[in-house]
Amino acid sequence: MERQLVITEDGSSSVFIAELSEHYHSIHGALQESQHVFIDAGLHYKTGKQTEINILEVGFGTGLNALLTCMEVEKNLLRITYTAVEKFPLDDVIYPQLNYCSLLNISGCDHLYKKIYLSPWQETVHLTNHFSLLKLKMDVKEISFANQFDIIYFDAFAPTAQPELWTAEIFNSMYNSLMQEGILVTYCAKGEVKRIMRSAGFKIEALPGAKGKREMTRGIK
Ligand SMILES: C[S@@+](CC[C@H](N)C(=O)[O-])C[C@H]1O[C@@H](n2cnc3c(N)ncnc32)[C@H](O)[C@@H]1O
Repeated sequence: MERQLVITEDGSSSVFIAELSEHYHSIHGALQESQHVFIDAGLHYKTGKQTEINILEVGFGTGLNALLTCMEVEKNLLRITYTAVEKFPLDDVIYPQLNYCSLLNISGCDHLYKKIYLSPWQETVHLTNHFSLLKLKMDVKEISFANQFDIIYFDAFAPTAQPELWTAEIFNSMYNSLMQEGILVTYCAKGEVKRIMRSAGFKIEALPGAKGKREMTRGIK
């Protein structure tokens, strides 16, 4: 599939796949969406309660969520284990063209981002003293974890583009992957998706969405 680099409304980069007519992030701002949905509504929901946090990301893509998460470690004195699943990794030449670090303007960002996107697949890498990353090149349909994660960043393409990733089977698997009181956050607020999540056992919270979206969803086990 051919991938094109694009600039979203907040000035941050994203990737577009014409074949699916899908962007990797909201066109209203990749950075603002990742920050809002995954960091603020996901990670920050847990940081007040615990310092050791196990995260599963569905759809590693550009690695933006991993980068923003890693940046939170020092600020909040956290210890994070981050597992990211990705079936179609981006070509390595794309990453240096993404402008996240120049916009974030945080010292050490480029170095860290490089470590994130160059870290090998299927191998746990200790990127910093308090952040370890395991990138799994595989289909989310094949994962099978039990009671392991505190947070799931569910960042698959939209249900219209990839309906097979928004099914009862997948959300049952996500539910099983979480520890009790674990949460799943997603930008998606579709009624049908919330219904499937409820059937899987999640308590559903509808939260204000990132810019350009009325709502997002947090499911709690
Ligand atoms: C909306 S993009 C998310 C991007 C990513 N979180 C980021 O910030 O760049 C969806 C991602 O899910 C990946 N994906 C699609 N189908 C998948 C599958 N069956 N299993 C795992 N990942 C998949 C895509 O390749 C893409 O990287």
